Amino acid sequence: MRLAFFGDVVGKSGRAALAAHLPRLRAELRLDFVVANAENAAGGFGITESVAQELFAAGCDALTLGNHAWDQREAITYIGREPRLLRPCNYPTLSDAPGRGAQMFDVAGRRVLVVNAMGRLFMDSLDCPFTAVDRELTACPLGAAADAIIVDLHAEATSEKQAMGHFLDGRASLVIGTHTHVPTADSRVLPGGTAFQTDAGMCGDYDSVIGMRKEISVRRFAVRLPGERHATADGAGCACGVFVETDPRSGLARRIAPIRVGVGLTETVPVLETA
Ligand SMILES: [Fe+2]
Ligand SMILES: [Fe+2]
Repeated sequence: MRLAFFGDVVGKSGRAALAAHLPRLRAELRLDFVVANAENAAGGFGITESVAQELFAAGCDALTLGNHAWDQREAITYIGREPRLLRPCNYPTLSDAPGRGAQMFDVAGRRVLVVNAMGRLFMDSLDCPFTAVDRELTACPLGAAADAIIVDLHAEATSEKQAMGHFLDGRASLVIGTHTHVPTADSRVLPGGTAFQTDAGMCGDYDSVIGMRKEISVRRFAVRLPGERHATADGAGCACGVFVETDPRSGLARRIAPIRVGVGLTETVPVLETA
């Protein structure tokens, strides 16, 4: 299968970049399934129903979240009605979090499992993401119950994300990091056959500080005094993510390549190898 995953969509710029480029990428790369992390899609903070619909219309098949999952109150009820929207699967059992952290999708007869989890280093600590993801993948093994498995680990620490990649190597098609909003240059297929990149980067305006207006961010860092509230940078954006080709039998990755298309970063778009 041919899969794409796009990192944190930030505000209008991120949504516009996906809407501008994803339909063409879907056709050019003959994508079977597309996931985007949408935790910052609504003005930088969380997700609303109308924003999610915009992303589905642009060509996303599933959306994942992260530490900003509940910034917009309506997400708490909306997620219960929208199986294509996932929040991290490792909320404490007692929290009774709405929605789901893993979902199986039927893609023309092939089964794609998407799992979202949140790391614990330098962020609000949920239950152990390794235990939580292990539970999901044990219930739904790659190559048997699923034709492809995509795991989004939303985490701050590169170490935690790489550890998850190795932990799941051979059991997932793709383990992808999100949250830092900067694409890392380490896309590779791990020895066991799992495609991995430490962070997918963001879809948004890169003339910013991780998608927020640079003047406000710089001032907050430099002056250390209360100032203007953070606001998203709304210039032209870049859609940033990865492309993965999987083996039809094993569900493991044959190839991973970065996607960066739009304004702000050096563009790169994979070329399909003709079979
Ligand atoms: Fe984010
Ligand atoms: Fe985040």
